[in-house]
Amino acid sequence: MNHLIAPSLLAADFGNLQRDIEMINASEADWFHVDVMDGVFVPNISFGFPVMEAIKKHAKKPLDVHLMIVNPDQYIERFAEAGASHITVHYEACVHLHRTIQSIHLAGCKAGVAINPHTPVGLLKEVLPDLDLVLVMSVNPGFGGQKFIPNTLNKLRELRAMALNLNPDLIIEVDGGVGAHNLASLVEAGANAFVAGNAVFAADSPEQMISELKNIRTDSVQA
Ligand code: DX5
Ligand code: ZN
Repeated sequence: MNHLIAPSLLAADFGNLQRDIEMINASEADWFHVDVMDGVFVPNISFGFPVMEAIKKHAKKPLDVHLMIVNPDQYIERFAEAGASHITVHYEACVHLHRTIQSIHLAGCKAGVAINPHTPVGLLKEVLPDLDLVLVMSVNPGFGGQKFIPNTLNKLRELRAMALNLNPDLIIEVDGGVGAHNLASLVEAGANAFVAGNAVFAADSPEQMISELKNIRTDSVQA
């Protein structure tokens, strides 16, 4: 499978959101990455349903929704109604993770679980067969533009090895500090979907940067 690119709207210009969404529509990007932060699970607040509905109105590609919120269960249906195609919750925010995954599927969405940099991938073993996606955080969640944490590469290798047995179709997505400088090494380590905020929106031509990320040479890829 060719790797997927999900530009993060967190780095978009909110004053020109429609323009930035249309740029992504016209680009080689696969998904829109939508970061929802509650100021409790992470030390930042981004946006909620009204903005998400506005995004949905213009977006012509799937919305990959990353919930950085406590108690995500109570909002899953609303995010599904607001147009999410993928809903990813944090392992660290879910007491009954298996139930949460079931609710996401019941709501008609693909289910993802995100893990913070300190969370071992082995903790996902029991739920891995039920997941469509694992989001490996390569920065501490809450802000765009942070520096990639190199240990992520070890986690990706371990997770891809686990997935080969338990869920060969698993999408492994990396989020935080991803760009043209490290994407090929992440593919080699087993990832096949990439969030890019700053790398895309701080580029001279965001659309060209998306194309560069999408078509980057990844010779010994197995994904
Ligand atoms: C951080 C968010 C990311 C963020 C990535 O908590 O989950 O999706 O937008 O931004 P960059 O690519 O700039 O690190
Ligand atoms: Zn994210």
